[in-house]
Amino acid sequence: MCGIIGYIGDRPAAEVIIKGLKRLEYRGYDSVGIVTEENGILHILKGAGKIDEVVERLALHRMPGKRGVGHTRWATHGVPNDINAHPQRDCTGKLALVHNGIIENFSELKEELIKKGHSFESDTDTEVIAHLIEEELKSGESFEKALRKALLKLKGSFALGIIYTEEPDRLYFVRNESPLVLGIGNGEMFAASDVPAFLEYTNRVVFLDDMEYAVVTKDSWIVKNLITGEPVKKEVREISWTLEMAEKAGFPHFMLKEIFEQPRALRDAIHGNVEAVKLVAREIANYDKVYFVAMGTSYHAALAGKYLFQRLAKKVPVVEEASEFRYEFEELVDERTLLIAITQSGETADTLAAMKLAKRKGAKVLAIVNVVGSMATRIADLTLYTHAGPEIGVAATKTYTTQLAVLTMLAIELARILGTADEDYLKKLESELRGVPDRVEEVLGLSDSLRELAENLKDRRDFFYIGRSIGLPTALEGALKLKEISYIHAEGLSAGELKHGPLALIEENVPVVAIAPSGKTLDKTMSNIEEARARGAFVVSLGDSEKLRKVSDVFIEMPKLDELLSPIPYIVPLQLLAYHLAVLRGNDPDKPRNLAKSVTVE
Ligand code: F6R
Repeated sequence: MCGIIGYIGDRPAAEVIIKGLKRLEYRGYDSVGIVTEENGILHILKGAGKIDEVVERLALHRMPGKRGVGHTRWATHGVPNDINAHPQRDCTGKLALVHNGIIENFSELKEELIKKGHSFESDTDTEVIAHLIEEELKSGESFEKALRKALLKLKGSFALGIIYTEEPDRLYFVRNESPLVLGIGNGEMFAASDVPAFLEYTNRVVFLDDMEYAVVTKDSWIVKNLITGEPVKKEVREISWTLEMAEKAGFPHFMLKEIFEQPRALRDAIHGNVEAVKLVAREIANYDKVYFVAMGTSYHAALAGKYLFQRLAKKVPVVEEASEFRYEFEELVDERTLLIAITQSGETADTLAAMKLAKRKGAKVLAIVNVVGSMATRIADLTLYTHAGPEIGVAATKTYTTQLAVLTMLAIELARILGTADEDYLKKLESELRGVPDRVEEVLGLSDSLRELAENLKDRRDFFYIGRSIGLPTALEGALKLKEISYIHAEGLSAGELKHGPLALIEENVPVVAIAPSGKTLDKTMSNIEEARARGAFVVSLGDSEKLRKVSDVFIEMPKLDELLSPIPYIVPLQLLAYHLAVLRGNDPDKPRNLAKSVTVE
């Protein structure tokens, strides 16, 4: 996730852009850059670092010109450094652009462009777009046509702000699967990833939809369809948010905003890993000894990864909390070992220690990480990124579901390489996975009814979350979410374990949340639900089968999906339930007591 902003009007563009970037800093903060234009010359200044630092170091506020675009980066391709910072430009230096999103097919495009004589400065996927437009312009097309032709070659997500010296009075903005909104002023126009970037100047906005682009001058704007080039009728809306509300996109907390960002984050995770997963799966296929290490929520993702690897690739990895791994597995790790570390921050001390130990013993180390350039990525031999964007709420939400998406892709690819599952089935799973962001969107529609449920349950003291097989990690993660932000005691356990002890704790009205997708273990989980109900439990179940509804006090209807894909949508109602309970109990879900976003001490 990155933030982009553009301005055209009579004010010094750099000033407006810097202010906007500060308001977008929550979207990314590893590098910053601006391009402005004056007298037909582009001025580009950019560098790695936080906005204030870079503004100061490069004197960004002194940049000339009354039109320009700017960017605050959250690295996806290419480490955070000065060269990879946006804007990126073409070979002529006449065209520059900023980008939020991920171009899936950038390596093929880059190869073709290099063959055609283009030279690249950065490691970014973004630079490819500038050269592609330049290439299309060579055939003498109008800029707009060349732009459309170039962009239709891209696979992936993009919101773009583009400036071209030969089109002196305008800016172009494009949207596909990454947010973009126009700000309509009087004699000036704005565009940004998010409203707060320009809310100080105007509250009149136009939201672009996927595959739309805008041509903006200081006095006019028009939105067109990227495929046909035809104008699209758009509505100008007036936003009544305060600045603070706007930074959270109108959500009262970052956590809720991040929960609702999951469809977008999942799309980026899936698009952004199509090629990388193939490479990494080939590596995993060479190892018999595979360990997953992680902590907290990432550990639950690892557990889901184990079920996926087992079921699809018939490979049984060992899953350990990183804090345990260091002491228990030292003797067992050698050069035939592959260690897969999962960590959102890439800075968790226990996870880093396990990775270092594995490296010392000659093992291969793979990391699944959200923060590009973090320590884990520097230790690992290979890294897969979850592309969730910065997560500000302390409780992990979108970073968890994107970890699950990456692990699912990895398991599918591994099964393909090892020949352990039918290709038609793997294809069906892949296509269902691509639909999962839409399924999550549907589940988000349950938020209001989950708030009502939370009203009902807010004074309960203990919760139990049960699930079997691939449902178990969801039960564990659901319980963790509840504990950490609502401060209610919660236990996650395998449904089968219930009657081996914990059942003694079930009494009248104790909530039991059952994760029960249709699949191998549904009937058994239903028997466990009946056992709990017989002791007075208040059963909230998540599933897709009508028979489950009959044995539940509250039935949360989930989309029908292959059970192996259930961990992604099924955690969403549990995130929402925990969130609403926390708020109803007067807690700040973004900053739970005693907890920190990254745990850098052991
Ligand atoms: C819970 C949560 C933590 C982290 C854990 C590991 O919501 O966020 O349990 O999952 O501290 O952090 P990372 O993934 O950064 O290694």
